[in-house]
Amino acid sequence: MSSRSMFPVSRRTFLKSAALASPMLAMPAASWARIAGSLDRINIGMIGTGGMGTAHIESLLRKSQAENIQLTMVCDVYRKRLNNAVRLIGGSESSGVMEYEKVLDNKDVNAVLISTPDHWHTKIAIDAMNAGKDVYVEKPLSHTIEQALECRDAVHKTGRVLQVGPQRTSENRWWEAGKAIKAGRIGPVVWSQGSYCRNSREGQFNWTIDKGAGPQNPPTSDGYIDWDRWLGVKYNLAPKIPYNEDHFFRFRKYYAYNGGVATDLMYHWLAPLLLSIHGPDGAYPRRVMSGGGQYIEKDGRDIADTMLLTADYDTHSVFLASVMVNDVGVPEMIRGQKGQFEPTGDGWRVTEQGTWKQEFREANKDMLKGEVPKDKAATFNISAPGNKDGRDHEENWIDAMRGKAKPNCNIELGCAVMVAIKMGVESYRQSKVFTWDAKAKKAVGA
Ligand SMILES: NC(=O)c1ccc[n+]([C@@H]2O[C@H](COP(=O)([O-])OP(=O)(O)OC[C@H]3O[C@@H](n4cnc5c(N)ncnc54)[C@H](O)[C@@H]3O)[C@@H](O)[C@H]2O)c1
Repeated sequence: MSSRSMFPVSRRTFLKSAALASPMLAMPAASWARIAGSLDRINIGMIGTGGMGTAHIESLLRKSQAENIQLTMVCDVYRKRLNNAVRLIGGSESSGVMEYEKVLDNKDVNAVLISTPDHWHTKIAIDAMNAGKDVYVEKPLSHTIEQALECRDAVHKTGRVLQVGPQRTSENRWWEAGKAIKAGRIGPVVWSQGSYCRNSREGQFNWTIDKGAGPQNPPTSDGYIDWDRWLGVKYNLAPKIPYNEDHFFRFRKYYAYNGGVATDLMYHWLAPLLLSIHGPDGAYPRRVMSGGGQYIEKDGRDIADTMLLTADYDTHSVFLASVMVNDVGVPEMIRGQKGQFEPTGDGWRVTEQGTWKQEFREANKDMLKGEVPKDKAATFNISAPGNKDGRDHEENWIDAMRGKAKPNCNIELGCAVMVAIKMGVESYRQSKVFTWDAKAKKAVGA
């Protein structure tokens, strides 16, 4: 039996329907054991074994015994990285492949973690779900808005578990901020902010190039790269160009494969901010506009080195900054009409707005210790160290696959964040303001 027919429904869908029917009668024994048996081992295939893929491999290997998981296959289109990944998992020669389809065809693989460059994310994620696998897809969810929506539809259709990669969404402090907002501790949220700023002498993203690597090498040699596959020529995922080492090793510098700092870094902040302000499913923006420029890093790249983005939602606005040529950013903050959250490291300092001090003190009397001195603003701390339920982002995915939790960055949030971020990218590139037509599910620039 192929993997396609073996696991046609997700654990969640299955367990839900279990309340209505007698699933053990309807399902083959193997499926029942795999789906309902929360103690079953989960076999994972890693697709994309570069920087982040290798970090995931090392992290999952450390967890494999405690979590009852196993990395059984690895896939990359660069032979050197593929060989390294095979070594890391202690696999046989056949456990390393250059074609992700072979991972999906393996019925013993239950789930895949996708760490390829962005232009491949949803093609592989959707194929994987259609092949009956659960998915962890690195951030950003996709390269285009259409791909993000298509992926969301595929999660709905297949019922598979899908986690999107912004790991801050597993930090406890964002969930606690969400509870505090819901409890009315700072009044209605009006605006929030986050930033990711760096500076470097070498030029941001100018990471090491393996000289001599490329498609001209024999396919079995360490230096071989399947360049057409990396581009995704077969599926029109990126423009077909001759091998370019800067594009391969430094793909973040080029809009053909990603959205630059917006998709690489701003995504990391917008996801937890929306989670806190709107809850686990996030929300779609009403209008997004970006400014910035390529002021210093002019080495043939096309992305901005300085980007400032404003996203307006129905009831509040978000401001995000990502600057690669000065590393002083703005701290993450959420501002309400009656007070605001500022980061403390393991949680939040919550402080009143003077105009609304009576209401703030009444809403937070359980947190304020005694009288507030006359000349001071009322303030208290919310301590929320570590991860939600003590589980990091990968562990939360594993829990979700076992039906014990929901993904902390589910497809609704991942898709909503992607839409806003991509609207921001296009706003910068086209010098337009983008609005979201929710009915047509389309971003409209003017
Ligand atoms: N969550 C985080 O903190 C975090 C951090 C870094 C990167 N990322 C994300 O991870 C992804 C990868 O980033 P990276 O820095 O590891 O890039 P990378 O270039 O180091 O690695 C990507 C790997 O994918 C391989 N690849 C490309 N197409 C493939 C295909 N069709 N099948 C199999 N392998 C393929 C490449 O050969 C390369 O080795 C990006 O989307 C990035 O945004 C997330």
